[in-house]
Amino acid sequence: MATTSSSMTSEQLQELANRHLWLHFSRMGAYQRGEEIPIIVRGDGCYVWDDHGNRYIDALSSLYCVNIGHGRADIAQAGADQAKELGFFTNWSYAHPKSIELAAKVASLAPGDLNRVFFTSGGGESVESALKLSRQYHKLTGNPNKTKIIARNIAYHGTTMGALAATGLTYARQPYEPLMPGGCHVPNTNLYRLPPGYGAENLAEAIVEQIEFEGPDTVAAVILEPVQNAGGCFVPPDGYFQRVREICDEYNCLMISDEVICSWGRLGEWFGAQRFGYQPDIITTAKGLTSSYASMGAMIASDRLMEPFLEGNNSFVHGFTFGGHPIASAVALANIQAMEDEEVIENVRENEGYLRAMLESMMDIPIVGDVRGAGYFHAIELVKNRETRETFNDEESEDLLRGYLTGELYGNGLICRSDDRGDPVVQFAPPLIAGREVIDEIGSILRPVLEGASERLGLQ
Ligand SMILES: Cc1ncc(COP(=O)(O)O)c(C=O)c1O
Repeated sequence: MATTSSSMTSEQLQELANRHLWLHFSRMGAYQRGEEIPIIVRGDGCYVWDDHGNRYIDALSSLYCVNIGHGRADIAQAGADQAKELGFFTNWSYAHPKSIELAAKVASLAPGDLNRVFFTSGGGESVESALKLSRQYHKLTGNPNKTKIIARNIAYHGTTMGALAATGLTYARQPYEPLMPGGCHVPNTNLYRLPPGYGAENLAEAIVEQIEFEGPDTVAAVILEPVQNAGGCFVPPDGYFQRVREICDEYNCLMISDEVICSWGRLGEWFGAQRFGYQPDIITTAKGLTSSYASMGAMIASDRLMEPFLEGNNSFVHGFTFGGHPIASAVALANIQAMEDEEVIENVRENEGYLRAMLESMMDIPIVGDVRGAGYFHAIELVKNRETRETFNDEESEDLLRGYLTGELYGNGLICRSDDRGDPVVQFAPPLIAGREVIDEIGSILRPVLEGASERLGLQ
């Protein structure tokens, strides 16, 4: 067993996990039927180790989280030092130095006048906060009927009941309906499979049509990721976000940039909005803010949105006990400092082309249909027929992803994401410290597995 602070054997951990731990978004029955729960015990840089001592490249940064890489004693130490000084105090009515310093730091890096930072414990809470702020802002400024949210098909914005209304994934919504009313969906920017009637140049017009359909005086906000994760790293066409900004201004809707994944260097800028040159009213973030050494998120709002909350006795009647947790704040400050000192964002800019070229070099394998993404956030879409772009039916996709790819990639030491929430894709989001040798290593594991998938399906 690899080095870990746990005194338990692999067998004991497996047994207890199977009996007591409820994994998220997981088919727990498979483990009851004998499949082994993967247990990760240690990390260092771009690598993690399981309880059997096997090493893996963490080419998903532990779910787009560990931007600075694993095993940073200095970041852990920042949390420990803070714990000794002030282990916890809340941001409900009180402040403390680390959340103040962090709010100022975040505001200094965020685009334009996004100067007001409301801390949360994670991405879903950040989105929830943005949706509630949108509603209350409109109520305070004389538009009480503006309550609806426009989001995009297949987009994932979190699982809490409000965020779920924005999430555009039927399978994640259906078990919990009825949801918060007012979640409306428009086409995403899947340029490989444009919806009928749309080209790359007029995709944003779908938002206008939806606003007109719902009634402009009922729409509070439009929420979008800079690069949409679910579906497989959909990048925006040129001018898309500029047009969305115009639409939001024209219809008095707030523009929420959900950057739970796309901030903190993931796209080669501090924030995804900076990569695509647009100015949102709100950014929601989490994950890379602390490189997930502590759980923390934030909603960053513009000065304009804050104005009505500075008047009279108004207040944002919303909060979370752990928002702005001092330990998480100290960890976030240390993480941002490390990113600056070590020029981590520059590393992404320097090597994103190399990552992309490695993935594009797989285009000779018949199952590889498309390569897309930005920064250290890329996807390969898998197809049955590259000429016609024919995709797989549900059964084929299930067999391909769960019956083969996920296990083969993991078994060969590569953690990435095989996903069929849209059409089947494999996603890559390595820690932002990854250099060319790590990218080469990802490629050397990926190629034979994709070739094996093609052969298994008889594709040529
Ligand atoms: C774009 C986006 N928004 C919101 C969330 C929800 O974040 P969390 O899982 O921290 O609640 C996620 C999670 O991956 C996400 O990718």
